Amino acid sequence: MKLIIAIIRPEKLPQVMKALQDHGIYPLTVFEVRGRGEQGGLYLTHGPMQYHIELLPKVRIEIAVSDKEAEKVVDIIQRAAWTGRPGDGKIFILPLENVVRIRTGERGERAL
Ligand SMILES: Nc1ncnc2c1ncn2[C@@H]1O[C@H](COP(=O)(O)OP(=O)(O)OP(=O)(O)O)[C@@H](O)[C@H]1O
Ligand SMILES: [Mg+2]
Repeated sequence: MKLIIAIIRPEKLPQVMKALQDHGIYPLTVFEVRGRGEQGGLYLTHGPMQYHIELLPKVRIEIAVSDKEAEKVVDIIQRAAWTGRPGDGKIFILPLENVVRIRTGERGERAL
């Protein structure tokens, strides 16, 4: 199993959720987070004034999937979250040791 963690533009969340849903993928967890990438936040100039926004609002999505589904899910997220501009985000793919469905005690892929 894999835990897919995607950091995306907040305005892309509905599109990403719709794309996942269209492929029958419903379970996910969403966090509102702040972050920065390679550009170190955002530099703005307004006349003589310079502003540096150190952390930009992002949305973090977590989805636990089977090994078999992982690449497909990553691909769906990448395509739905893409604009081609800096700040589109990142997808981290982590090994996931186990899952327990609390209601039934099921473990592993049955619990996904
Ligand atoms: N190496 C990293 N570690 C942890 N979080 C990261 C990392 N890179 C990006 N992030 C998270 O992803 C968000 C979006 O990153 P971003 O898309 O700007 O990455 P980037 O490497 O700068 O790529 P780009 O050049 O396309 O902007 C960041 O605000 C941060 O929350
Ligand atoms: Mg960036």
